[in-house]
Amino acid sequence: MASVNFRSINICVIGTGYVGLVTGVCLAKIGHSVICVDNNKDKIKKLKKGISPIYEPGLSSLIKEGIKKGRLSFSEDINYAVKNSDVVFVCVNTPTQKNGKTDLRYIKAVSREIAKAMNGYKVIVSKSTIAVGTSQKIKEIMKRHHHPKLKFDIVFNPEFLREGSAVDDFLHPDRIVIGAESEKAKRIMEQIYGSVKTPIIFTGIEASEIIKHASNAFLATKISFINTVSNICEKNGGEIEEVALAMGLDKRIGKDFLKAGIGFGGSCFPKDVAAFIRVAKDSGYDFKLLKEVQRINFNQREQFVKKVQSLIPNLKNKKIAVLGLSFKPNTDDMREAPSIDIIKMLLVKKAVIKAYDPVAMEKAKDIFKNKITYGSNMYEVMKGANAVLILTEWADFLKIDFKKAKKLLRSPFIIDGRNMFSPEKMANLGFEYYSIGRKKL
Ligand code: NAD
Ligand code: UGA
Repeated sequence: MASVNFRSINICVIGTGYVGLVTGVCLAKIGHSVICVDNNKDKIKKLKKGISPIYEPGLSSLIKEGIKKGRLSFSEDINYAVKNSDVVFVCVNTPTQKNGKTDLRYIKAVSREIAKAMNGYKVIVSKSTIAVGTSQKIKEIMKRHHHPKLKFDIVFNPEFLREGSAVDDFLHPDRIVIGAESEKAKRIMEQIYGSVKTPIIFTGIEASEIIKHASNAFLATKISFINTVSNICEKNGGEIEEVALAMGLDKRIGKDFLKAGIGFGGSCFPKDVAAFIRVAKDSGYDFKLLKEVQRINFNQREQFVKKVQSLIPNLKNKKIAVLGLSFKPNTDDMREAPSIDIIKMLLVKKAVIKAYDPVAMEKAKDIFKNKITYGSNMYEVMKGANAVLILTEWADFLKIDFKKAKKLLRSPFIIDGRNMFSPEKMANLGFEYYSIGRKKL
């Protein structure tokens, strides 16, 4: 357990996205001196004023706290930040290309900049998710561009935080994985996380890279598995929630990630599953299991649209109210959100979409442009609608006044992709209510 070796360290974090910002802010929270760097001027401008550019519960107050305590600062100047740090965390984006290969252009660019800015021994820690073998490539780039007399170590420290609960996940992780080559780097990493009470697993660098991809791919597989079981439930009359509960109580299976729905989205599972398939291919192995996980995931979206069409066969000019756009609740992140696929399919069928999301509408506007319209609250989008679709399980939606909703709707149809409500309750309220893996009353 980490807890004895804490020492305050000068750290810089490059990339202030979902991972970098949470990492920087939380490292300051646990007592380190942190400079967060980004080449996006707008982000840094906001952050300097104590404003978070992303929606993540608990993050804004920690940003303000870090600035006030003098432990957290923001800069566009990577050279200054590296020179004034002993440990450099790299948290830039590593998107997956169409062929499944990880796009390393940002991480390579940053590695060159770090190398050029070196002024003494540093530990270079990647938190960006990378395919096995990438840390060694980073090391080679560093070697090519830094002064040969200056020593450095590379570490891969995969991040397991979930958006929407990122701060808590960072401060109270199930484990910390450190892939390192030198004892010196291991001891420094131990000091960084010294106050976090959780096991630290030291591994070889390659194992740490595989751990990250394998963990995300496994969780994605669990979701596709339960989604397939939900389809069997629908055909045979079983209730998916009962099935998942009883399965999950077996400790070997575990209760988490057994929630059936419209499939996984987000910036990580879709990209990391694709990347791991590619890693397997490059290793001479066809990871058919993961290809099936992808197929099942998309099929959940198609099945959902079929449910809408079973209620409204001709969607042309039909008004559809969409509740929830973000890929999961408590985030404004729209990357690979199931809502994107579903709305696109409905638009092809010429449905007229009006959507509401508590925080993701600004980001959604960049995606859907003016192809859909937006309401300022859930009742506004329901007015005159032929059906309501629930695509993200925001807690706010639990408070829907269904009597009011029924009066506003043209037809009392609710298709719930997140199983938020009980079918019995909805039937009693007079709704035609379809959900996932449950009977339709
Ligand atoms: P993001 O796109 O939100 O943030 C990346 C940031 O890096 C951006 O602000 C961008 O401006 C900045 N950046 C890019 N190039 C830069 C450069 N040369 N100099 C300075 N800044 C630069 O990405 P994210 O969601 O935070 O993910 C980052 C990495 O962490 C990815 O590899 C991802 O797979 C991994 N990861 C993400 C999550 C998550 O929940 N989002 C969780 C675990 C791991
Ligand atoms: C996921 C992992 O959970 C993190 O451990 C990891 O660090 C991160 O990816 C990453 O590598 O970036 P995240 O994508 O933020 O985190 O969110 P999750 O809670 O995992 O949800 C992912 C998607 O799966 C969402 O669309 C969610 O709705 C869906 N999901 C999740 C289900 O459909 N069913 C479930 O039971 C759980």
